[in-house]
Amino acid sequence: MTPEITITPMTMADYDEAMALWQITEGMGLRPADERQHIARYLARNPGLSFVARAGETLVGTVLCGHDGRRGYLQHLAVAKRYRRQGIGRALVARALSALRDADINKCHLFVLKTNRQAVDFWKRIGWFERDDLFTLSHWTGAFDHEAGSG
Ligand SMILES: CC(C)(COP(=O)(O)OP(=O)(O)OC[C@H]1O[C@@H](n2cnc3c(N)ncnc32)[C@H](O)[C@@H]1OP(=O)(O)O)[C@@H](O)C(=O)NCCC(=O)NCCS
Repeated sequence: MTPEITITPMTMADYDEAMALWQITEGMGLRPADERQHIARYLARNPGLSFVARAGETLVGTVLCGHDGRRGYLQHLAVAKRYRRQGIGRALVARALSALRDADINKCHLFVLKTNRQAVDFWKRIGWFERDDLFTLSHWTGAFDHEAGSG
């Protein structure tokens, strides 16, 4: 019997399983900012916006979502390989967007590595539009170790 898929807000109780999924997910660059204390701070600053999907007891998907009071941002959307193409990615994103809407945030952005063309195809398939009017620029603050090559 196929286990039922449930989607619930992510808590730190999900962290170890989420990290295990991220570690085996292609195109997922893990950085010092993904360490436990930073994800704990992220979830505390953005309560109820990030979600995990479970098949029965097993964590099979994640999405991190936050906002800055003006725009929303999605990160770390991942679905375990054997659970892909079943609508879980779409459902996780829908939950995050719905939570942003409830928080009165009306636009959301995300960044995709240029090498991850498949992800762009996925995002477009579920209604996101590509921006060719923007460059992305970044700067270190020195808060903790530089994350060479990271997003
Ligand atoms: C991208 C990812 C999250 C998609 O998850 P998923 O659960 O398989 O996606 P869904 O089943 O909800 O697919 C939603 C739609 O997108 C389509 N789709 C999914 N993956 C696709 C792909 N690689 N290329 C093109 N379309 C795709 C599906 O066919 C579906 O369309 P339909 O409903 O019209 O049939 C998953 O492939 C993944 O974890 N990839 C690796 C991590 C990653 O790249 N994350 C994004 C970082 S920006």
